[in-house]
Amino acid sequence: MKTTLTNTESWKSLEKHFDEIEHVSIKTLFENDKNRGQQLVVKDEGIYFDFSKHRITGETLKLLSQLLENRDFDNQRQAMFSGEKINITEKRAVLHTALRAPKGSTILVDGRNVVPDVHAVLDKMSGFANKIRNGEWKGHSGKTIKTIINIGIGGSDLGPVMAYEALKYFSIRSLDFRFVSNVDGSDFAEAVEGLRADETLFIISSKTFTTLETMANAQTARQWALKNLGDESAIAKHFVAVSTNEKEVTRFGIDPQNMFGFWDWVGGRYSMSAAIGLSTMIAIGPENYHEMLAGLHKMDEHFRTAPVEKNIPVIMALLGVWYNNFFGAETQAVFPYDKYLHRFPAYLQQLTMESMGKHVTIGGDIVDYQTGAIYWGEPGTNGQHSFYQLIHQGTKLIPVDFIGFKESLNLLPPHQDYLIANMIAQGEALAFGKTADEVRAEGVAEEMVSHKVFVGNRPSSTFFLDKLSPENLGKLVAMYEHCVFVQGVIWNINPFDQMGVELGKVLAQNIIPELQNGEKPLHHDSSTNALIEFYREK
Ligand code: F6P
Repeated sequence: MKTTLTNTESWKSLEKHFDEIEHVSIKTLFENDKNRGQQLVVKDEGIYFDFSKHRITGETLKLLSQLLENRDFDNQRQAMFSGEKINITEKRAVLHTALRAPKGSTILVDGRNVVPDVHAVLDKMSGFANKIRNGEWKGHSGKTIKTIINIGIGGSDLGPVMAYEALKYFSIRSLDFRFVSNVDGSDFAEAVEGLRADETLFIISSKTFTTLETMANAQTARQWALKNLGDESAIAKHFVAVSTNEKEVTRFGIDPQNMFGFWDWVGGRYSMSAAIGLSTMIAIGPENYHEMLAGLHKMDEHFRTAPVEKNIPVIMALLGVWYNNFFGAETQAVFPYDKYLHRFPAYLQQLTMESMGKHVTIGGDIVDYQTGAIYWGEPGTNGQHSFYQLIHQGTKLIPVDFIGFKESLNLLPPHQDYLIANMIAQGEALAFGKTADEVRAEGVAEEMVSHKVFVGNRPSSTFFLDKLSPENLGKLVAMYEHCVFVQGVIWNINPFDQMGVELGKVLAQNIIPELQNGEKPLHHDSSTNALIEFYREK
């Protein structure tokens, strides 16, 4: 039996429309409408979003919007913003938007206004960040802190790393920031290489405070600190925690005074604007951090209030559905033309793929349509000299998001002109390509013509902003967060749980004692048994 998405009238209209449009080229669409490049643009919140180079017409957008409206989008969006428990598998509200709500606003969870709680944590973070930044916070032996190491994984790492790298220009250069996530001991060993424990602060970031990787790294950090500082009382000066689990934080030996809390209504991958951003705040300072929050909030408001046809995250999501479900595209590339955003695609991978990697609807039915795309990317122009060839002349359709800034934070003419010329040129080449006649006109030998043809018709969006400020980073993050939400509404899946990561964790817990104790007999499949035995031979 078909699920209720693919047998809706809206879906069937889109299927029919797809048959009409599948072979219409972007070039033709531009020839038919001389103003397309100005019309299919949204300019809002300081973002110039050009979505003209897509294989869509006004009719496509109309049909996709109808599909969304028929999924009860307005009410679902309202339900998220107002704190209803829309994460039904975990029976939780989804309120990352409350993390950047201005002081004085009211958002209720189980009858309690959570906004004052959010601001109380922000104030505590600011006080602590300032003390570290100005050297007032002393380590156990009275030295000032020189290095901050964030220990966390997934949402407790990727957001902090991405934001630190993205906003490095604004960061305090007298402090060194390092990040440990992998349970591979080399990650920890390299992070503390050359460091003095009496000048190092560990932030143990874990929503649950039970995650194997983080707890293993935290214990190793504790031993390293104790070995070098020699005294249990040193922990209070060198370890702070960011978590929702005060009991486990205390059990680990961190004073709850040195814990920065958040709440179960913040998903791990949506938590970079919760206290998980502590390392970011220390790096860029409370003022810049609040600017980032303001940017997130501005995009929240844009998403909440802009009409569908002018709503950036909504349009992004509709385009994603169009390519994913109708053109059969498997991936979505994100290419920031800014070196500082080099971890942005990695951050987006968790945000999008942990959210959208679902094959059952909210009601538990198996879907009969594709859900989440594979997100990937690298900063331009490096990608151009690596994998862009496949996007230009390969056989796969890969929609691209280009992200660029008018101003560089580092004024080194002519670099920014070169960089942005490349970004704009890539979108042009992908969309319009180069025909055989154009190649011949360049005097290319006939046997080489087909090799030099660019078919074009490869879609891209361009996001142009003035510069990579904390506020603009906030806007970009919220833009993708809300894009995920909209796709979740269309596909009728829950973007806020992550059951799929559990099985591997449980199986690893079974295998650990088998590796350590040499237990026999093994009861796995023959491949797993053999791998365990091979490891034990060392
Ligand atoms: O990978 C699963 C996951 O639960 C993520 O969703 C989360 O961001 C990560 O593990 C880390 O979890 P925690 O912050 O509880 O350590």
